Amino acid sequence: MAFVAVNAEQAEDWNGASGREFIEQRERHERMLGRLRARLLAAARIQDGETILDVGCGCGDTTIPAARATRGGHALGADFSRIQVAEARRLAACAGVTNARFEVADAQVHPFQAGAFDVVLSSLGVMFFDDPAAAFANLRKALRRGGRLAFLCWRAREENPAFIIGFAEAAVVFGLREPPGPSAAFSLADTGRTGALLSGAGFGGIEFGKADEPMLIGRDVDDVLEYERTSPTATEILAGLSPAQAAELTGQVRDRLVAYASPDGVTIPGAAWLVTAHAV
Ligand SMILES: C[S@@+](CC[C@H](N)C(=O)[O-])C[C@H]1O[C@@H](n2cnc3c(N)ncnc32)[C@H](O)[C@@H]1O
Repeated sequence: MAFVAVNAEQAEDWNGASGREFIEQRERHERMLGRLRARLLAAARIQDGETILDVGCGCGDTTIPAARATRGGHALGADFSRIQVAEARRLAACAGVTNARFEVADAQVHPFQAGAFDVVLSSLGVMFFDDPAAAFANLRKALRRGGRLAFLCWRAREENPAFIIGFAEAAVVFGLREPPGPSAAFSLADTGRTGALLSGAGFGGIEFGKADEPMLIGRDVDDVLEYERTSPTATEILAGLSPAQAAELTGQVRDRLVAYASPDGVTIPGAAWLVTAHAV
């Protein structure tokens, strides 16, 4: 089956700058997101022998533990980022995990085998659909009746300081940039809208649990500042500034990071929804 991307803009980003960042910063992301991912896997209640679909699997950091949890079954990681799927395959092979498989696929439209999965899970990979109603209906179709859905999505931007302390937000404060428009990362933050979306797609027993976990962003302020400075957005912003403006903006971000620093590192609270439901 040919690969068709309907979510062209997102697919381009995750095959480009964001995808590369997720590969390069994978270990940092595990320190940031590890606690949230562990809560997702616990909520999925994977049983030996079950078949799992991990949507937006990235480099396979939830697919691989899901495959280990099902032992006699198998896990499929689906992602439209070719570069991350290649990395996920490499990491699974290195880890000796033979019951995880990865496919380059757009989860909104990919013809997954109907009713083939016991569990559909996603760690922060279901917020980017152009047509979320179609996408969740497609995921519902992949689940057997009674099968479980469990995913993480961010709560509102205002509850997530990690998204408001970086160069993009500082540039807004300095009048160097327009305030950002709605971001796909927060597209499922509204529980009323997301709940309606899920029930419309054929899910029942929908529950939203608050998943609040500290995210260890880096070992100290300099480490995090470098991480923020080299992010795709910051690189673009800084390229358009004079050296004096760039220094002022960098100082501003540094000051914000200091507030989250301790001898254990820079830790920023993360606020996600852990959403669970079943296929009706
Ligand atoms: C924030 S990353 C999370 C990756 C991974 N699950 C993790 O926990 O690190 C979002 C992922 O969803 C993928 N993604 C977004 N929309 C998708 C779609 N329509 N189909 C398949 N993958 C998608 C992106 O390529 C990216 O790898």
